[in-house]
Formats: sequence, C-alpha cells, structure tokens
Amino acid sequence: MHSRDLTSSPPMQNERISAATRPSTERKKLRQPTRSEYLRKHMNRVSGYLRNPDATIIAALLAWQEKIGVRGHLCEIGVHHGRLFLILALSRQLNEKALAIDLFEDDGINLHQDGQAGRNGAMVRNANKLGIELSPAEILKGSSLDLTAENILERTGGPVRFFSVDGGHMYRHVENDMRLAHRCIASNGIIAADDFFFLKWPEVSFAVYDFMRTAPDVVPVFATSRKLYLAHRDFAPQVLDFIRTSPPPGIIVEYPTEILGNQIALLRISLFARAWQEIRSRFAR
Ligand SMILES: C[S@@+](CC[C@H](N)C(=O)[O-])C[C@H]1O[C@@H](n2cnc3c(N)ncnc32)[C@H](O)[C@@H]1O
Repeated sequence: MHSRDLTSSPPMQNERISAATRPSTERKKLRQPTRSEYLRKHMNRVSGYLRNPDATIIAALLAWQEKIGVRGHLCEIGVHHGRLFLILALSRQLNEKALAIDLFEDDGINLHQDGQAGRNGAMVRNANKLGIELSPAEILKGSSLDLTAENILERTGGPVRFFSVDGGHMYRHVENDMRLAHRCIASNGIIAADDFFFLKWPEVSFAVYDFMRTAPDVVPVFATSRKLYLAHRDFAPQVLDFIRTSPPPGIIVEYPTEILGNQIALLRISLFARAWQEIRSRFAR
C-alpha cells in the first residue's frame, strides 16, 4: 500500500511535520501524563471529535483489560489530531504498540474550520507536547482502503486488544475498516465503531449492520449516543458484566435493548457529570 511514516518525512517535504518530529534527543524530555491525567487536564486541548462519555468509557475498558491480564496492541483508523489515539498511546503496557492510521491530510470539512485543520502534523505535535514517544512503525499515513489486516499486524507485531474505527464515514470505508478490525482483534479485544447512531453519517449504521450480519462471531455489547462497542461472542458477556457492575464515574447504564438478537446496554453520561465536564472543557480552551 502507499503509506509512509510521518515520523520519517524528509524535512523539505513538509515543514510542519518535520518541526513536530525533531529527534527526541533535541527535545526537552517530558514526563508523559497518566491516562487519567490526560483525560482530566489535556484531552480538551486536543482538537477532535471524541466526547464524553466515550473518553471515560474507553479509558475504563483499557484499565479493566490491563487489570484482568488482557494483553495486545492498540489501534485506531481515523486519528485526526489524536484526541482518542493519545488515550491508546498512554495505555501501552510492556511491549505493546499503539498504531495510528490516517490519511493525515486535511479534507474539505476540516480545512476551514478553526482548530480542526492541520492533520498533517497535529497528532505528532500533540504527542510531542505531552512527552508521548511514538516509534515510526506506530504511525501509518495512507488510506485504510489500501490496507490489509496483515499490513496492520506486521506493524503491531500481533493481535490488537482495542481497535477504534473512526476513519472515513462512507459505507465503503466503514465496511472495510470493520473487516480490518475484525481480522486484527485478539479473542478478548474490543472494537469501538464511531458514529453508529449519528444522523449526519447514515451509511455508518448500514455498514456496521452489514458487517455484524457477516461476522456472527463478533457481537455488539453496548452503545453510547455515538459509538457501538463490540467484542467476540465468548468475551462479550464479561465486557457487559464489567460495564454493568462497575460503570465509570458519571456513566449511567440504561435499560437493555437488542441489535440483531443480541442484548446490548445503552450508556449515557449523568446530567451532573455532563455539567461538570462542560465547565472543565471551557477552562481548558
Ligand atoms: C472523525 S475524524 C477522527 C477523529 C478522531 N478519532 C478523534 O479522536 O478526534 C476522521 C479521520 O479519518 C481520516 N480518514 C478519512 N478517510 C480515511 C481513510 N480512507 N483512511 C484512513 N483515514 C481516513 C481523516 O483523515 C480523519 O482524520
């Protein structure tokens, strides 16, 4: 596939990228924040689309996987400025890799929007600012449509324990990216499919539904207003049990509903937590 490492761009080719990717020896060594410090103090300064409750839920799922001994790599298709991806990077345990896959180029939607342009360098700059070291192998610039699961597994070196699908939002992208995620996740891995319920992106819902019909070994477990979380059929009851019995602070687990015969929980943020987060994010801007 036509891809390249952002971290190894020739300096003259793209100044913004090269400035952000100076060798780490030239940069002041920073202590990277913990995952919860990132959520509390830094995430709102990173432009992007990830909202609560998903940030809190993803952090809780990753912490739970670590606690119960799930090992594997972390991957996101559709990274933008790294708002979600940096949670994955901060969750790497010994020998785990976090793989960022993106076109890393602005598109029409983002070009003129304040704070959302600059995909060609923003993620690496944000990582550098926080002292988060990423190896060249952890950044893959290119279209996921040109990727195979083997390309991803070669980069990570093994199955993925958390896979965020948030790349292109048309049917062909989502169908392709869900298939890639399916082929890469570990038996106790989790897939998060973005914008499953979002009116603006109706093709996402259709593509995810069609994917679920063709991959009965993976089932939906719970949903927020934006994302659908899936896991292997054998692992799904454990994930659901964790979410039901230990919901992250401020998250309410609502009545169950069904998707294609699978019972799923619906999660939302409490009014109090929403108000508190709104206040905090205003101060972060
Ligand atoms: C909604 S944004 C991702 C938001 C991000 N996950 C966050 O936390 O803010 C979608 C991203 O998908 C990327 N994208 C679109 N089409 C793609 C493709 N075919 N392959 C890889 N990435 C793609 C875009 O460049 C963009 O950065």
